[in-house]
Amino acid sequence: MCGIVGYIGKQETLPILIEGIKRLEYRGYDSAGIAVINDKGELIIHKRSGKIVEMEKTLPDEKNFNSCLGIAHTRWATHGEPSTTNAHPHLDCENKIAIVHNGIIENYKVLKKNLQNEGHKFNTDTDTEVLAHLIEEVYDKINDFHKAVNEALKLVEGTYGLVVISKDEPQKIIAARKGSPLIIGVGEEENYIASDVAALVVHTKNVIYLKDNETAEITKDSFKIRTLANESVAPIVKKINWDISMIEKGDFDYFMQKEIYEQPDSIENAFRGRLNDELNTARLGGVHLNPEQLENIKQIVIVACGTSWHAGLVGEYMIESMARIPVKVQYASEFRYRDPIIDHKTLVISISQSGETADTLAAIREAREKGAKVMGITNVIGSTIARETDFGSYIHAGAEIGVASTKAFTSQLTVLFLLGWMLGRMRLLTPEIGAKYGDELKKIPEKVTEIISYNDYIKEIVEASPIPENALYLGRGINYPVALEGALKLKEISYIHAEGYPAAEMKHGPIALIDENMPVIFIAPDDYVYDKILSNIEEVRARKGKVIAITNKSCDGIKDMADHVIFIPKTISLLSPLLTVIPLQLLSLHYALAKGCDVDQPRNLAKSVTVE
Ligand code: M6R
Repeated sequence: MCGIVGYIGKQETLPILIEGIKRLEYRGYDSAGIAVINDKGELIIHKRSGKIVEMEKTLPDEKNFNSCLGIAHTRWATHGEPSTTNAHPHLDCENKIAIVHNGIIENYKVLKKNLQNEGHKFNTDTDTEVLAHLIEEVYDKINDFHKAVNEALKLVEGTYGLVVISKDEPQKIIAARKGSPLIIGVGEEENYIASDVAALVVHTKNVIYLKDNETAEITKDSFKIRTLANESVAPIVKKINWDISMIEKGDFDYFMQKEIYEQPDSIENAFRGRLNDELNTARLGGVHLNPEQLENIKQIVIVACGTSWHAGLVGEYMIESMARIPVKVQYASEFRYRDPIIDHKTLVISISQSGETADTLAAIREAREKGAKVMGITNVIGSTIARETDFGSYIHAGAEIGVASTKAFTSQLTVLFLLGWMLGRMRLLTPEIGAKYGDELKKIPEKVTEIISYNDYIKEIVEASPIPENALYLGRGINYPVALEGALKLKEISYIHAEGYPAAEMKHGPIALIDENMPVIFIAPDDYVYDKILSNIEEVRARKGKVIAITNKSCDGIKDMADHVIFIPKTISLLSPLLTVIPLQLLSLHYALAKGCDVDQPRNLAKSVTVE
């Protein structure tokens, strides 16, 4: 999604802005732009459709900027096609005010019409331009920049994280937030503002998270925060625990590759300090449920989108199996519109890597309104979902920059496993079974390391056949959601059409697709449904489909049935998705690279989807 960076201080602004928006490229964008006020008080705007490097190439000589104040943006089009004209910043009629904005202004048509009636002239198709003119209109009347932004925003319906500068007040940046994140980075004689900590971490670890309906006036050595109702708010400075190595590729060529390889560590980080070896259970510090509250939970509803939704489907198996509490998993985007049957006896669990997904956030609000307690499982500390849920657990995966989620998925599974295990031990799981779960979990990072070492073999599998146009992923039981995740990973980064199905469903329709050009990827660990999957493999072979099987070393009979077999170490069924998904991530990476795709920034996708 769109990205925002702003700077005010003692340094030359341009390199800081460019470097900042480059750190946000991973979020997905189609155009980029900057606005700075130079030492002569001139407002300079520069924007281009396409990548940031394209914009950079056409910049006038950097030295001419002489500016210590500026804002920058990467745009992911919602209103108006991706083009240089529609790229941000947008301006008022007098070219005095420049604004960059993430989010959607829902009542922009009405506002635009009113402003046009007042004589404002518009140059773009965007909703954002309305904000520039609206602020101009109010500013002309009250001559107080911060107040003008506040008053203008009172007329706005929709979501925004926005940053505005004015030629008339070149010592300040005004920022405002409603539904789209903004974080102030606190420096010495300089301050920053960004929509994502990834743009701040090289400069400072001290940050202030703006809350919804707050606006901030930022100068080089101060910040005043107010609510939209003009009440002043005491800023709370927090420390971020990211370091720069998390947002750089290091020895890897791609972030996605780096993040796949980080999984032994990221999984361990998700369970580190959370195992209680004495009681053979997990300890999730953020989950405060006494036995009575637990007894009161009659159902669990998991809400999430995309890969996080797949993690939820695995979580359903884990929690039902260990804690025997009924679990439903719903797309967050559907949940909010279906008048869900939930009440105070329902525990809603929201899962989100970014903690900013608009649909998940809306589902949380709906659930809380209906009286349910909501738990958040998120990665980004201080994110909106982390703050808006009643309690929760961080997955501690570290920064995930690749648009295709990999390490966040396995960390989400780890936390869901811990939760199911903990709830199970509070209900009916014996200490012996609890102890077994702990032992098996501790062995997972080492097993993931082993699977990652098969990378070259997986690449050879990809190179052994022409790149397919379609692929089918089949799994059963707890590995059915892994089939969905494998298919999603492939389509996201390689644009190969892929479907995931429960293996037995194949004969109810998808079998019609199978011919010699169709690779079918079977997830077939040595578990209670292994024999059933073998029959499904036979059915594919009989129709000349190409079989790639992921199984355990104990199942070498499968070698005669499949074109390629990836043998992985064995674990208990409930933890098997943490292992079976790794070869699928590597398969999609190599298919995408073989096609020459940009794996970190796939077309049309955004890392965090902050619009509905
Ligand atoms: O940040 P979230 O986990 O809430 O994001 C949800 C989805 O947008 C996300 O998982 C998306 O499907 C990824 N691109 C998957 O790789």
